[in-house]
Amino acid sequence: MIPDRPLKSVLSGQSCTKVPLWLMRQAGRYLPEYRALRAAKGGFLDLVYDTEAAVVVTQQPITRFGFDGAILFSDILVVAHALGQDLWFEEGEGPRLAPRLIEGGFEALVSQQERLAPIYQTVTRLRDVLPQQTTLLGFAGSPWTVASYMLNGRGSKDQNEARRYAYASEDRLSALMTSIERLTITYLRTQIAAGADAVQLFESWSGNLAPAQFEKWVVGPNARIVAALRETFPDVPVICFPKGAGGKLLHFVESVKPSAIGLDETVDPVCAARTLPKNIVVQGNLDPLALLAGGNSLDEAVKIILAAFADRPHIFNLGHGILPETPLAHVEHLVAYVRAFRC
Ligand code: CP3
Repeated sequence: MIPDRPLKSVLSGQSCTKVPLWLMRQAGRYLPEYRALRAAKGGFLDLVYDTEAAVVVTQQPITRFGFDGAILFSDILVVAHALGQDLWFEEGEGPRLAPRLIEGGFEALVSQQERLAPIYQTVTRLRDVLPQQTTLLGFAGSPWTVASYMLNGRGSKDQNEARRYAYASEDRLSALMTSIERLTITYLRTQIAAGADAVQLFESWSGNLAPAQFEKWVVGPNARIVAALRETFPDVPVICFPKGAGGKLLHFVESVKPSAIGLDETVDPVCAARTLPKNIVVQGNLDPLALLAGGNSLDEAVKIILAAFADRPHIFNLGHGILPETPLAHVEHLVAYVRAFRC
């Protein structure tokens, strides 16, 4: 008999009396065991490309909290690295990519797909060592989000440079987006072949695009990736997380047709439960700041989400990544609270 994986079951549309849970960025700096290993290994990318270390880091939150999903420890920007850009992380700041493609240099990039090899090994190894009931989640960034970092060479609050480029240099952006999309399909297919039970696409920067741009750079690529994965692996669920999509969320769901939709913390769960098609699984959407703050307001926020989605397939998660300052006791409390809930 194949042991039950509650998260995979709910993602596949089966009803469940318990709400499965995992947290975006659940392996990371809020965990002392992560900080210790990172200090020993040197830096973030040293962990990502070291299979043994990445396996340990992926397991850390499972061992501590027993989450239903283990998300592969990596980063969305390894795809930019595999397309030939230099990638490094500035301590206390964030990612840096060179050359900065807004200034040109895309045609000169030499693809280095072998950079992804250790990540595939991490997935294979994880499926061996994770508890049977734990669902292994692979992931990638969606092309627009990855492109916005590749163009600007670093993160930005508003993606103004990348959004301006999308108008001014549409042909060059199209070529870049096509390369990212192709590699993302290969990358996710290989993760699935290596043992990922489901995959998530992170579209972290879809929120501030004008509607026609949202259609071209967000809906189109996400829809094509979902369709391509479904063609090869019809039974493997795909979660899409178009952060900030707001009023365009229903349109995104209807056009992209993911198995599950990740909701960010600005989405009203009551309204989402009413308007989203009944067959789509919802994931989310506790405000990471509510988890950071703890106390009664945390319980209230969790209760509202659980109640709103009680009569449809729901995976409990945050609306965005867990914040590094989050107290462990608050996470323990959240897990106990969600575990005690029956729908
Ligand atoms: O969810 C998980 O636990 C899996 C691992 C994961 C990481 N990044 C590890 C990470 C995932 C799924 C990501 C996704 C990611 N990475 C996104 C999409 C989701 C989102 O947060 O919007 C984006 C935009 C990135 C790019 C990125 N990586 C940034 C902007 C930063 C710096 C900001 C920050 O939080 O430090 C990172 C670094 C990063 N990725 C860390 C981790 C654990 C912190 C590295 C460290 O200092 O140890």
